[in-house]
Amino acid sequence: MAGFPQLRLRRLRRTERLRALVRESRVDVGDLIYPMFVVEGKGIKQEISSMPGIFRFSPDQLDAEIEEVARLKIPAVLLFGIPEHRDEVGSSAYDPEGVVQQAVQKIKKLAPQLLVVTDVCLCEYTSHGHCGIVVGDQIDNDQSLPLLAKTALSHAEAGADIVAPSDMMDGRVKAIRESLDKNGFQHIPILSYAAKYASAFYGPFREAAESAPQFGDRRSYQMDYHNVREALREIEQDINEGADIIMVKPALAYLDVIRQARNTFNCPLAAYNVSGEYAMVKAAAKEDWLDERKAVSEVLTAIKRAGADIIITYHAKDFARWLQST
Ligand code: PBG
Repeated sequence: MAGFPQLRLRRLRRTERLRALVRESRVDVGDLIYPMFVVEGKGIKQEISSMPGIFRFSPDQLDAEIEEVARLKIPAVLLFGIPEHRDEVGSSAYDPEGVVQQAVQKIKKLAPQLLVVTDVCLCEYTSHGHCGIVVGDQIDNDQSLPLLAKTALSHAEAGADIVAPSDMMDGRVKAIRESLDKNGFQHIPILSYAAKYASAFYGPFREAAESAPQFGDRRSYQMDYHNVREALREIEQDINEGADIIMVKPALAYLDVIRQARNTFNCPLAAYNVSGEYAMVKAAAKEDWLDERKAVSEVLTAIKRAGADIIITYHAKDFARWLQST
């Protein structure tokens, strides 16, 4: 037995019912986190040109968007802030009245069940656009840690459900865990951008967040994309420092890293389907070069199949809508 013609793998592909019965992985709305950009000010709802369908909202304009996210049963949003004021030390990042802090309070009022995850980083808040403190022409690791910890704490104080450090400084998870614990936030999980690569696929995000570095690039802190063993070390370090959920970012060019992380570690694993990955699909779909719905489903399923439990994606609303309509 076992060879053709007795063995015919096509038997299980004959109808949609059969295919569905033997399906190995599925993406559920419950797996998704929807990233959102909040901008300081009033009356602002501005589409990001390289990310069609994604907007920057001032806190007062969030109502309709949050109601829609909640109605679509997307379990969580991930917030990025664009402040009015930028300086050398990113003070707006840990201002209790900062734009993310305001937005968190507003969203928790609008949709108390919706999980609010906040991106913890300095790059949107510093005048130089780097994710840490600049000393000379270097990004100083240890001086950045207290500011990141302060930022995470202020997000928790505003009501964030999960904090997500994306700066890639060594020791930030430990610093954040200690500061949260000292201040009564032992229950707030850390989702760490554990293996975050220096990637060209962040291009549209940097337009959205106005966070492009003013000199140099991020390769002295974000990972070199030639490496995968190093990603496992990064993840291990973050788990040892207290990360509750780990992340691999970007997703599509890093499916091997997602798979290795899944095989090596037992904590929940997130993958970030980043802005450039979104922009590619959107641009091609606009030209009618591919079927958006099918392409998005294939992309998200691939990330899930590679081993991610959670997918952070700008496609979340569209995908949730398509699921509801079938
Ligand atoms: C901030 C941050 C970035 C992204 C998430 N957090 C940009 C960067 O590191 O330059 C990228 C997200 C995306 O491209 O969708 N450190």
